[in-house]
Amino acid sequence: MLSNSELILAIESSCDDTAAAVLKGRKVLSNCIANQTIHKAYGGVVPELASRAHQSKIIPVVHQALAQANIDKNDLTAIAYTQGPGLLGSLLVGSAFAKSMALSLELPLLPINHMQGHLLVHFIEEEGIQSPQFPFLGVTVSGGHTQLVLVKSHFEMEVLGTTLDDAIGEAFDKCGKRMGLAYPSGPQIDKLAQAGDPHRFAFPIPNLKGYNVSYSGVKTAFTNFIHQQSSKNERFIEENLNDLCASLQYTLVQIILTKIEEVAEAYPLNQIVIGGGVAANSELRNQLLKKEQSKKWQVFLPPLKYTTDNAAMIGIAAYFKLQDKQFGSLTDASLSRLNY
Ligand code: KG4
Ligand code: ZN
Repeated sequence: MLSNSELILAIESSCDDTAAAVLKGRKVLSNCIANQTIHKAYGGVVPELASRAHQSKIIPVVHQALAQANIDKNDLTAIAYTQGPGLLGSLLVGSAFAKSMALSLELPLLPINHMQGHLLVHFIEEEGIQSPQFPFLGVTVSGGHTQLVLVKSHFEMEVLGTTLDDAIGEAFDKCGKRMGLAYPSGPQIDKLAQAGDPHRFAFPIPNLKGYNVSYSGVKTAFTNFIHQQSSKNERFIEENLNDLCASLQYTLVQIILTKIEEVAEAYPLNQIVIGGGVAANSELRNQLLKKEQSKKWQVFLPPLKYTTDNAAMIGIAAYFKLQDKQFGSLTDASLSRLNY
């Protein structure tokens, strides 16, 4: 066992957030994120622009993380970075930076799986965070993934179900774009839905066998519906925006909720652990908390700051890798696709 004084610098650059964090043991000393606003103009992440923005932001954000943690780089124990999954050009910036820094400081490297990080945030030692016991049902809901995972230990994770097409966050963002909302529209839909009626419009919930989900059908149905209505009334979207958002959000959440219930019952698993950007969604959080009562589940929701991409999640996964001495090497490749 290592002591709790190990200092890890963690770097996350898998998509459009350049992030760095410093952890001391399981405690987060700093968690800095430089968001890339450039993508708003394009209605989605442009990979080439994301890589370039990472290059200009990575050094300032690492400096900021070390300064906020009040740590000198020479006191670090190891350097962690996201190995995958993600956009290759974005991942390469983080890994090249982490490798260079590790090489110059003669420190070990810890390559981390981004999706494992989303679930492992529940092991950060911090007020308000309660850790689950193994095994548990992990649910990753983000812009790139929607997965139901049997988590047997920190790094033993088995995917039980996944999306067959779009991820839930992608469905939020694409439907939002059709309504004229800026990228990423998930948080705006959540906000606008607060003043809307979730049962005003009905969209189809796919009935798939097994534990997989699908989001492309509801996206198409939603798009066709607003096109049809807008051709009759060009102000249809603005006049019904709150109800559209509430009804869409209700449907997107019901799709994953139904599968969580099925998996939890079949295995059975009563600890439901949520991770990823869509874990910030208030409808998903509220519905899960309601189920906690009726299903006798224990639901683990991450604090909002650890839902969307951040480097603390990479740092906590790295903490457990360090415990197991699972070090990487300078020849490790970044992987745009990486399973648990
Ligand atoms: O985990 P994340 O930061 O990046 C990926 O790994 O994909 O997730 C980003 C996704 C986006 O699709 C964004 O719209 C969604 O999370 N998101 C939300 C909310 N906050 C972020 N979706 C719905 N409601 C929210 N409150
Ligand atoms: Zn993510």
